Amino acid sequence: MAVEPASPAPSPAAEVDFDALDLAWLQAKPGAKWQRHGPDRLAAWVADMDFPTPPPVVAALHRFVDAGDLGYPDWLAAGSPLRALFAERMAARFDWSPEPQHVREVCDVVQGLQWILHLTTPVDSLVALHLPAYPPFLDTSSTMARPILSIPAERTASGWAFDHDRFATDLAAAGGRCRALLLCNPQNPTGHVFTGAELERLAALADEHDLLVISDEIHADLVYRPAHHVPIAALDPAIAARTVTLTSATKAFNLAGVRCAVAHLGAEAVRHAWEAQPRHLFGVVSSLGVEATRAAWEDGGDWLDALVAHLDRNRRLLGSLLAASLPEIGYVPPEATYLAWLDMRALQLADPPHTVLRDGGAVLSPGPDFGPQGVGFVRLNFATSAAVLEALVARMASAVARAPRRADATTA
Ligand SMILES: Cc1ncc(COP(=O)(O)O)c(C=O)c1O
Repeated sequence: MAVEPASPAPSPAAEVDFDALDLAWLQAKPGAKWQRHGPDRLAAWVADMDFPTPPPVVAALHRFVDAGDLGYPDWLAAGSPLRALFAERMAARFDWSPEPQHVREVCDVVQGLQWILHLTTPVDSLVALHLPAYPPFLDTSSTMARPILSIPAERTASGWAFDHDRFATDLAAAGGRCRALLLCNPQNPTGHVFTGAELERLAALADEHDLLVISDEIHADLVYRPAHHVPIAALDPAIAARTVTLTSATKAFNLAGVRCAVAHLGAEAVRHAWEAQPRHLFGVVSSLGVEATRAAWEDGGDWLDALVAHLDRNRRLLGSLLAASLPEIGYVPPEATYLAWLDMRALQLADPPHTVLRDGGAVLSPGPDFGPQGVGFVRLNFATSAAVLEALVARMASAVARAPRRADATTA
């Protein structure tokens, strides 16, 4: 029989101690992150955080269930309260005023973006994408037969950058075959936060080549100062009118299991295509998913502030741990997200880095899952306690110390 993890007692948001994680509690969690690779390994792969559900969300869900009505909610015809809440929150946090009536609920962000591609782009048209990329984007491209026009990341002295001059040339060469830009801002896995100037350039190219912009902004709440998030649709009405913005509370508030997200359909043609579909084709989000999202967005502000401060400490801690025990690993501290894109190529390992680390008890995401540029890389999830992060890097260091090097490896 599966062991139920005992939930730590909810505490007021201001008192949350993100370092107080019990390893036995983590190992007993029933979700994919800690179960998939067995109890003897430390899990730092899929983008779930190790922290308990935010107390305001737990309290809201308890209240909702205790109220005794899990029947049809009264918002199915006109839309959930998330439509207005999303618009208010965007205005308050990001100085963008989207239209509540253009918001639609979806079960998750990837479902939303697949629907948009399906409804608005032809098979065999190209989708522009910054690479390396979140793996479901790559699966979407191949299974939906929308090949990628790639915008590859480059490592510069100041971090990760993308060559948008080259993108302009590639778009021109594509001769109208590229129909959409799938933007991920902040970017997973590099943690790059696109600046206003970068977004202006992308918006100008979208306008010039009549691209639909599908902007996945799911990590927007997890940005570290001095970087700050700019929704691309906030730039001006012209780009807003060709953009679909997708987001949810699931990354920032650790709610991936509630299956609830929103799509803001800024583009009129997309709204018409969407409304022409039978309603139940998209599925309907659950009342519990909507309530969890509402509680996170309305009541989770203090918890989120404390979380971002903790994650900021962890991204620095990771830098010092790597510098001390694995200095050959290339690490650019992300400007956002709790994901670190680690370059292990200089170690010249004989086997793929993620298998070396996994066999040493540290499960990270394999770099090649993020595209061909990911060979020699791994993605590390640092949304955990300092103690677990220290143990993880210690396991990585001993795995690397024991691992065979390539036959043609050169010494520095
Ligand atoms: C960029 C990005 N988009 C979407 C998702 C997944 O969102 P959902 O579960 O709502 O599809 C993730 C999860 O890690 C992500 O990093």
